[in-house]
Amino acid sequence: MTQFSNSMAQETSRDVGPVVLLGPPGAGKGTQAKRVMERYLVPQVSTGDILRYNVAQVTDLGVAAQAVMARGELVSDDLVCEMVRQRLSLKDCKRGYILDGFPRTAPQAGWLDALLDDKLFDNPRPTRAWPIVIRLDVDYNQLLLRIAGRRSCPTCGRIYNVHFQPPLVDEVCDVDGAKLVTRNDDRLEVIEPRLAAYQEQTAPVADYYHRTGRLISINGDLPMDEVTKLIFRIIEDHNA
Ligand code: AP5
Repeated sequence: MTQFSNSMAQETSRDVGPVVLLGPPGAGKGTQAKRVMERYLVPQVSTGDILRYNVAQVTDLGVAAQAVMARGELVSDDLVCEMVRQRLSLKDCKRGYILDGFPRTAPQAGWLDALLDDKLFDNPRPTRAWPIVIRLDVDYNQLLLRIAGRRSCPTCGRIYNVHFQPPLVDEVCDVDGAKLVTRNDDRLEVIEPRLAAYQEQTAPVADYYHRTGRLISINGDLPMDEVTKLIFRIIEDHNA
């Protein structure tokens, strides 16, 4: 067992509350959200994963979202907020959850605050029930490399990178042997619109959390394990 996997030992005794991971496409939100999920046993609520699942299952939501996602644009706030509302109402979110890819627009951030306000009103909880908002800051060229090199397992969802985190056997998942896939929106022509959507629509969300004193920015250029340690420390300090 490596030193890192030792430090990943599960920590299930604490209420984590809501954690929001912000950052541009390729910043490492999914990678880090999975590690938080494994350590604290709280669910990763990834709006991108839920949307991709719906696209694959050809649900009404998937049909509505597919073309928008393929262009690298954002799905409408109404659809995404309703999807998140349903997901957060499930029992496994009681001790906390990690939001990966949400909120992504100013209206989504306002909607989330209202949702948490309601919960607090019905069932008063200490202020630490407010989300911990962590933004991963990553250099632009590094983002391009990370997105272009990403592969993922269609079965277990594990994320790899041909440059930074290759599987043991080329293009094959270490865990279950499935053939790795490249995401449809990781095509070169879609990467730029995704990064532009982040600048135009999601950067103001970070500004909003900054203005309200809730934003914690960390250096997402660091190696994955270093970033993980920073995130664990923030969560544990917040809930100490
Ligand atoms: P979504 O799935 O949320 O994609 P994204 O935000 O573009 O983020 P990514 O998944 O590309 O990157 P990531 O930050 O998770 O990085 P990862 O850990 O994989 O959204 C997809 C689409 O769905 C959107 O474009 C939109 O259409 C729609 N959508 C989703 N949410 C929505 C919302 N709220 N509202 C409206 N529409 C919405 O890492 C990337 C790569 O880098 C991997 O290969 C990884 O191995 C590697 N890596 C990670 N960390 C490091 C590190 N520290 N060092 C080196 N390599 C690293």
